[in-house]
Amino acid sequence: MVVNPEGKGGSVPARTALVTGADRGFGLFAARELAQRGWLVFAGRVLENYDLLDRLAAEYPLVRPLRLDVSKTDDIMRAGEEIAHVSGRLDVLFSNAALMGGPGASTLGGEEPIDFGALERDFRVNSMAGILLVDRLLPLLEKGEMKRLHFTSSEISSLRLMTRTGSMRYAMTKTALNLGVRMLFNDLRPRGYTFRLYQPGGMNQVLPDGSYMRKTKAVDPAESAACAVAQLLADRVDEDRLALIDYHGRELSF
Ligand SMILES: NC(=O)c1ccc[n+]([C@@H]2O[C@H](COP(=O)([O-])OP(=O)(O)OC[C@H]3O[C@@H](n4cnc5c(N)ncnc54)[C@H](OP(=O)(O)O)[C@@H]3O)[C@@H](O)[C@H]2O)c1
Repeated sequence: MVVNPEGKGGSVPARTALVTGADRGFGLFAARELAQRGWLVFAGRVLENYDLLDRLAAEYPLVRPLRLDVSKTDDIMRAGEEIAHVSGRLDVLFSNAALMGGPGASTLGGEEPIDFGALERDFRVNSMAGILLVDRLLPLLEKGEMKRLHFTSSEISSLRLMTRTGSMRYAMTKTALNLGVRMLFNDLRPRGYTFRLYQPGGMNQVLPDGSYMRKTKAVDPAESAACAVAQLLADRVDEDRLALIDYHGRELSF
């Protein structure tokens, strides 16, 4: 791949990112933000009934959709092989795919009892996959120049802020993600890696035709993704500290 990341022509390889959960919503727009800046973006897909990613790839040839169920090690390995073949390195991992809510997500002893099978599945996708991706793609990240790892978390993950009931599955799995990221940080920060732990805000959902299902007080995922990518690409003075930052740039307790 010979694309100049600064768009000035020549044969400088583009900076390369992998964005997971890019079929729609926040991940889709994060992929677009990076492609607009001249990044080569491998964009993970799992959904059959959304063609928004295909439309994005048609508009931005730097976006390369690839099949990636982040709970499947084989999919991660195949994605790694494709990235190795095309670009030979990975500058940014943007770990974003998640399962949110759904039936059986609620409270203990409530009207909607917890589905523990679904809880196990959600741990795999929301908590474990981000760590697994880093583990399996580390050889490619080692070859990258930026060595930056983004994880989409949530305010709901915060032990201090989570004072309401409901959403137990989602809250537990995002808290576990935060701790996994903390442990990665302890291991990899001394090796030059930098981290972004991001709270995108309550977001409007994107429907298959690209329209929005709007909620009150929610932000459009495009807007939040623009903030996330700006935070992702800007160096920070305090890279030696892991912080959960929201789309306003405010730090949250977690
Ligand atoms: N939406 C909010 O209000 C909100 C608030 C705080 C944090 N967040 C976080 O922000 C991120 C993006 O949220 P969003 O609103 O853009 O959600 P979304 O529209 O549901 O996007 C998440 C994507 O991840 C995919 N995904 C689920 N399981 C996967 C797997 N095993 N492998 C690969 N991809 C998988 C989803 O596919 P399926 O549709 O098939 O599940 C979906 O396409 C998530 O990490 C979420 O936890 C969202």
